[in-house]
Amino acid sequence: MGRLARAAKIGLMVLGGWVAAQVALRIWRRLFPAPASPLVSPILEVPLREIGQPRHVTLRNIGLAPGMRVLEVGAGVGHYTCEAARLIGPEGSLSAVDAQPRAAALLADRVSREGLANVEVRLAEATNLPYPNGTFDVAFLITSLGEIADKGRALRELRRVLKSNGRLSITEAMADADYMLMAEVVGWAQAVGFELVEQHGNALVYTLNFRSLFGP
Ligand SMILES: C[S@@+](CC[C@H](N)C(=O)[O-])C[C@H]1O[C@@H](n2cnc3c(N)ncnc32)[C@H](O)[C@@H]1O
Repeated sequence: MGRLARAAKIGLMVLGGWVAAQVALRIWRRLFPAPASPLVSPILEVPLREIGQPRHVTLRNIGLAPGMRVLEVGAGVGHYTCEAARLIGPEGSLSAVDAQPRAAALLADRVSREGLANVEVRLAEATNLPYPNGTFDVAFLITSLGEIADKGRALRELRRVLKSNGRLSITEAMADADYMLMAEVVGWAQAVGFELVEQHGNALVYTLNFRSLFGP
């Protein structure tokens, strides 16, 4: 076998191994959804993410505007949080929630380093949000819904803390091991009283915006 053929064979084997590992990982994560280990936090900051879709495009698709009261669930280490806080300005406020102590601590550090007075960070579960009914204009989740074990309960909780007519925005990226198909996200959201009002992007990276039909 020539050198080129051997190299091609090894390349195919590596590719096949990677695909098989991805499939196994995704099936496992589907069966047992849970917050990803804090060890993967650095992956959330890789520049490749910006190539998939620049951060400002994702935030524009969510539809943030100055003065809004905003909730981010599953904020992680804040890849989107600080930029979102700048978009809503000092007259707006952003509550960033994560269920993992390490992610919340790293995020709080980042927010304080960036001197953002309009962000509060809370360690909390999506299924038990520490806010009164009808608090927020917008709630957004970026590559987080797939990690939440009880999606129905989390979405009902999101509806509760949104104002009537408030906006729920869900962004998913295929590169994420917990990726959810558009149809699944729409199904979950509609089942608890959200109506799909906007769709941005494509199967690789998409944002779906919903309106709360019933309020809290
Ligand atoms: C893939 S990371 C995405 C972080 C951030 N949104 C981003 O795009 O960079 C998902 C985050 O959701 C959080 N998470 C998972 N399940 C959660 C839950 N039930 N309640 C709150 N946060 C949760 C994880 O701890 C993790 O930080």
